[in-house]
Amino acid sequence: MTDKKYENIEIKREGALTFLMLNRPDKRNAMSPGLHADMCDALEALSVDAATRVLIIGGNGPAWCAGQDLKLYFREGAKDPALRRKASNDSHRWRWELLSKFPKPTIAMVHGFAFGGAFTQLCACDFAIVAEDATFGLSEVNWGIIPGGIVSWNLAEMMLPRHALYYAATGEPFDGKRAVELGLANFAVPAKDLRSRTVEFASKLTKLNPNVLRYTKEAVRVVRGMNVEDAKDYLAVKQDSLMRLDKEIGDRVGMTEFLDKKSYRPGLGPYQRGS
Ligand code: COA
Repeated sequence: MTDKKYENIEIKREGALTFLMLNRPDKRNAMSPGLHADMCDALEALSVDAATRVLIIGGNGPAWCAGQDLKLYFREGAKDPALRRKASNDSHRWRWELLSKFPKPTIAMVHGFAFGGAFTQLCACDFAIVAEDATFGLSEVNWGIIPGGIVSWNLAEMMLPRHALYYAATGEPFDGKRAVELGLANFAVPAKDLRSRTVEFASKLTKLNPNVLRYTKEAVRVVRGMNVEDAKDYLAVKQDSLMRLDKEIGDRVGMTEFLDKKSYRPGLGPYQRGS
């Protein structure tokens, strides 16, 4: 299948892994209205693309993403309410609605710079692998604005309150190792190994049952907003739904292999489907 060509983003493939790259390197991948529209279109298409088993969000050039484009999103948007409204809707749609609910696992592969609005797609991804020397910053305070869109909400969800307030209030930059300590990333690796370590982790995900992965990520995200009684009920119904959807789970193949055939140790690795 030939992927659509976009002006502001690029789709690259490596087997079952799909790399969706922000592609405005000269502007450090600052997010323009055009980039937001392209991302909406690509994520809609990739969400139903059977060849994509894991989606990786990266950035071409020296930066992962320098946040919203101050000129094209903010300044031009202030002059044109229709442009601003569409850009704002598209911006929220791809970075939160489409990405956080993407039906396959998603990984933020972060190098260079990640500022401001970039934190929303960072938090929307299921996993984040970052370069040790990447620079993160909530630089909004330096522009006389608050971490808007939903960035403040993302921080409140992902970070401890002391850390969220400290970095939002001061705008102080931090590196990839600190991002791990703050709970924003799973692991930090040397920049030269970022791609290979991301591919290594993503390939492990492709070995897991895709339906169980999808239901697990949906469940973990949704229960955060529930009380314990609602969560218990929701998880029971979700499991029933999974068993109807997936024959391997419905037939309790794993339990048969472990309890009866004694051929499989689920604690030690994924079930080799079809073997
Ligand atoms: N919006 C619009 N343009 C941006 C941008 C942004 N958020 N971030 C970078 N750019 C543009 C610069 O204006 C410059 O454009 P030009 O070549 O037409 O002059 C180009 O990208 C390269 O930026 P430059 O600053 O020269 O690159 P650098 O590698 O020295 O520094 C950053 C990179 C990301 C550290 C620096 O550009 C920066 O601080 N950007 C602002 C990030 C920010 O605060 N984002 C949050 C917005 S709320």
